[in-house]
Amino acid sequence: MQRVGAMQDVIDIQVTPLSPACGAEISGVDLSKPLGEHQVRAIKEAWKKHLVLVFRGQEVSQDDQLRFASYFGDLGNRKKAPEALRTRAEGVEQNHEKILLVTNIRVDGRPIGAFGDGEFWFHIDSGYSERPYRYTFLYALELPSRGGNTMFSNMYKAYEAVPAPLKEKLCGKRALHIHEYNRAKQASSSGDISGIPHYSHPLFITHPDTGRKTLFVDRLMTTRIEGLSQQESDRILDQLYEIGERREFIFEHEWRLGDFLMWDNRCTIHARTDFPKEERRLLRRCTVEGEPLYE
Ligand SMILES: [Fe+2]
Repeated sequence: MQRVGAMQDVIDIQVTPLSPACGAEISGVDLSKPLGEHQVRAIKEAWKKHLVLVFRGQEVSQDDQLRFASYFGDLGNRKKAPEALRTRAEGVEQNHEKILLVTNIRVDGRPIGAFGDGEFWFHIDSGYSERPYRYTFLYALELPSRGGNTMFSNMYKAYEAVPAPLKEKLCGKRALHIHEYNRAKQASSSGDISGIPHYSHPLFITHPDTGRKTLFVDRLMTTRIEGLSQQESDRILDQLYEIGERREFIFEHEWRLGDFLMWDNRCTIHARTDFPKEERRLLRRCTVEGEPLYE
């Protein structure tokens, strides 16, 4: 009997690619219920191939979200800004260390979550840390009438598009990633960064699961290639940001209520488009912890 059930799990899941760049919709899965081993395996296979997975029409509680995410590794803790840099209050409705509310909603003038309004440049979630989150899971609870789309770029394709002489030149090089709190402004490595979270990662990393090389660079936080002059580093980083943000590598997700997205931070970068700031937007995020990354 169990065998039949297991086979049905696999048969029920459908994977529909959403763009030539990356992204696929998964149907036939109810994330509010515990999943079987075969279902999880099928999702993992689809994830490796499509990098970003979209589940529509889900009704997912906080506990459901954490249970589902835990099938893919150890849940990540929400990272807090160093005390001295905490210009904004910690979200007043963030009451679980594994959950972050991505929202512009305020109650009595105080933000209930983080990452409020406006555009958000391309970035890697916690790319400034030694162990950037392996995965991010984001669920839509309230949405503005337009905008606030999430764009994902396929960094395997970006790596392949780096010209061979540049690949050779950058082989073995590392770059500094700095936490930039402004979201639409390049982090700066000039001045004292000792109090700001930062870490150097290889420019090119080998994805620990697929063994494929990816470009590990984003416009928001990657600021300086080590061992090059500032001028040369700036010039090359501009070139790498542009490769990473080529339209043909991007899948743009337009959110609908009940959408549940999951993505792999080691082979994608993501950004948010602007949206009307007088309208409410609320998404619930959790993550899976990562590991140090190697070329
Ligand atoms: Fe993000």
